[in-house]
Amino acid sequence: DRGNEMHARRARPSECLSPSQTLSVSRQFYDRDFPVYKQPVEIGYFSLDSKRNFWNDARQLRYYVEPERCPNFNLRDGYHDRFVKRDDGIKEKLDHILKWILANKHKLQSRDAICPLGIDFVTWRGHLTKLLTTPYETQDGWLLAVSRLAGTFYISEVETEKARRDRENRTERHEEMMYWGYKFEQYTCADDAQGSPDSGGVVNTNEAFCTVVQTRLSEHKLLFSGEVDCREASSCAPAAPACYIEMKTSAEIHTPKQRSNFHRYKLLKWWAQSFLPGVPKIVAGFRDSDGQVVQVETFKTSQISQLIKTEYNCWKPTVCMNFCSDFLSFVKKTVKEDDPKLVYLFSWEPHKDVTFTTHRDSEYTFLPNWFVKEITG
Ligand code: A3P
Ligand code: MG
Ligand code: MG
Repeated sequence: DRGNEMHARRARPSECLSPSQTLSVSRQFYDRDFPVYKQPVEIGYFSLDSKRNFWNDARQLRYYVEPERCPNFNLRDGYHDRFVKRDDGIKEKLDHILKWILANKHKLQSRDAICPLGIDFVTWRGHLTKLLTTPYETQDGWLLAVSRLAGTFYISEVETEKARRDRENRTERHEEMMYWGYKFEQYTCADDAQGSPDSGGVVNTNEAFCTVVQTRLSEHKLLFSGEVDCREASSCAPAAPACYIEMKTSAEIHTPKQRSNFHRYKLLKWWAQSFLPGVPKIVAGFRDSDGQVVQVETFKTSQISQLIKTEYNCWKPTVCMNFCSDFLSFVKKTVKEDDPKLVYLFSWEPHKDVTFTTHRDSEYTFLPNWFVKEITG
């Protein structure tokens, strides 16, 4: 019986891992000099249309339009009648990035026979954001699947049981509040550099513009992609990714405790997400509990680490970056076999070390044949 066979071929459970096969997430180990993080360079981009189809172009890129001093943004508008929600039960894994790589292989060729792409790691920016915030995360663990193909390590997230339960049991209020972030984008972004936002249109969360950047963290050469909300509309703006802007919403702040929580938890996630691809500016809409935007504030990504230093025992960028660097080193020394059908599943839960299991020809295999054929062929 195939099911049993698959189970029998499963790797040793984590209880059998020796200390050298686990990785600590304790902050104290990562509080050292900031690692080398090269300025991220945009090497391409792609778009996903309203049907979630891939296009090797910038058709979904939008342009920032600065709101008035006291804008009248009601983020609840259109939730019931002008909202098309992406099906987040469909797991796309790395497929869109792999399509981009095949369409742009000529830009990546290296002379290295062992690693023809000349890149150590391919992944989504969002997966790296989770790694950066791991030393400070107390709620949600993660599962990251890694396969090695032609010398390059591919990292793709697997939804945890808790994340699936949370997703399937969201309240109607939570569902609506997730829409508010996209509605804020619609109020502040136009389809053309000279255009104005169309707040009467449909919000379709299938649509996305993604930048593809290359950089290096310590000795690790990275290629990753991340969704970009919009860019500066001026033609005088700097080249990408420096012209990109991240849009965010957050609850308005009344008390010192609320401000402290905003610094400790929200700004950590906002900083990690934008620092990775080199997005310099975050425009935040602070809203009341009824979805009315009461204030719009701009944060410079590079100044967030100064801003949070007023907090006692706050998060440190260097801990985030060193942990990510050490995790990637841990992956390199662990994933020795070059085989797209073999998945090393790295697993982390709050208050525990990182562990892994291995799975051959299992439901975790994520590199599709159409990609493997083109890379090895
Ligand atoms: P806000 O973050 O402004 O609330 P992003 O900010 O990354 O461009 O994402 C746009 C919106 O998608 C978010 O707006 C939020 O509503 C929703 N979103 C992003 N990441 C999410 C996650 N991990 N879980 C649930 N919703 C998420
Ligand atoms: Mg976005
Ligand atoms: Mg955003």
